[in-house]
Amino acid sequence: MLKGKTVVVGVSGGIAAYKAVALCSRLTQAGANVRVIMTEGAAKFVTPLTFQSITRHAVYTDTFDEQDASVIAHIDLADRADLIVVAPATANVIAKMAHGLADDMLTTTLLAATCPIVVAPAMNVHMYEHPAVVENMNTLRLRGIRFVEPGTGQLACGYVGKGRLAEPEQIAAYLEQLVMENEPPKLLAGKRVLITAGGTVERIDPVRYITNDSSGKMGFAIAEQARRLGAEVTLVYASVSEKLPEGVELVRVQSALDMMDAVLERFSDTDLVVKAAAVADYRPAEPAAQKIKKQEDELTLRLVKNPDILAALGQRKTKQFLVGFAAETNDLELHAMQKLQRKNCDLIVANDVTDPLAGFGKDTNVLHVFDGNGPAASFPPLSKHEAALRLLLLTAERMGCGRPAGGNE
Ligand code: PMT
Repeated sequence: MLKGKTVVVGVSGGIAAYKAVALCSRLTQAGANVRVIMTEGAAKFVTPLTFQSITRHAVYTDTFDEQDASVIAHIDLADRADLIVVAPATANVIAKMAHGLADDMLTTTLLAATCPIVVAPAMNVHMYEHPAVVENMNTLRLRGIRFVEPGTGQLACGYVGKGRLAEPEQIAAYLEQLVMENEPPKLLAGKRVLITAGGTVERIDPVRYITNDSSGKMGFAIAEQARRLGAEVTLVYASVSEKLPEGVELVRVQSALDMMDAVLERFSDTDLVVKAAAVADYRPAEPAAQKIKKQEDELTLRLVKNPDILAALGQRKTKQFLVGFAAETNDLELHAMQKLQRKNCDLIVANDVTDPLAGFGKDTNVLHVFDGNGPAASFPPLSKHEAALRLLLLTAERMGCGRPAGGNE
């Protein structure tokens, strides 16, 4: 993923600067065009010549040392960068970034950059936990800057705690993932993907109904990411509160029975189904044709079971790959595995809807994916878009997408 990408590595002044050499080596080996900027402090720990030898490019240390008179170095570098990573990032450079200071080559370049920026902090544990540093990092997070968390262990200062620069391979893997998210490969090209989203609406009478809290965000995110991965997408959606995604076929339904019809009608032509919709398990047995009038003190509503759409697909599937969702409040794995087996899914995605970062209506989700053998992947709290992409990349891999036809690689 990093091949041909211009990655600017900003090295600031901490003992972990030596690890940035290994990071540059990894990135260079991955085919990236690596440009290094060192702060004055960094150059006291490692010489610019070390980075120059690894990257085969002159190292930037001074804003006023213009190597090419036809351009202004920090603007040119910021414009050409596909990605900037500051590793190690000291408390000082983090503070400068948070406050928009630009008094050296690294901070002027960071201020001029429009590409994604990743920060890998390294410092003493008390500095890392200092409210000023915590606040500065939060400010940067809110601006979209991403962090590779430091590790915990023996620090150069003698303390044991959090603050050790993440390992170079971990930082490199994070950068690969980021590039993948920004420019996902067209792994689902030529595939027909059907997604369901939202909460079904089960009518009681013309003015009342039973539904649930699904906003459609999760299903919409999956539909959008499937389109980015090159798929032809049909989105069957019920009650939603979000803006509809573009570039996909939209099929609006109301009840579980409507959703069942819409999904079954398209199933034979479909390669992948992802059922993110929250389908009502029961519906009123006799929806009233007219508004029910207030009469007695009690009103009993008789409900009958809805068909299980996913289970029906599980019974009928031939070539189709089936991904179900499981909204759970307890015993995630147990319930998810039972659903996977009962509904004959290839993967099931459990989300704990009591988690403040997961479930109905939230912008984030925490997905735990299971296959027939048990846990297949767990993702940290992510925006629903990022979570959807991770889920689809895993699904595409399981479907064998991107492999040569008939190949085993
Ligand atoms: O829409 P958001 O606000 O973003 O919220 C996302 C979500 C919480 C709705 C989503 O992440 C989620 O968990 N969707 C599944 C909700 C659900 O109905 O879970 P379940 O455990 O009751 O059902 C298991 C699976 O069977 C689901 O894939 C469901 O679509 C399917 N099902 C359920 C009942 C039924 N009669 N037919 C079905 O197909």
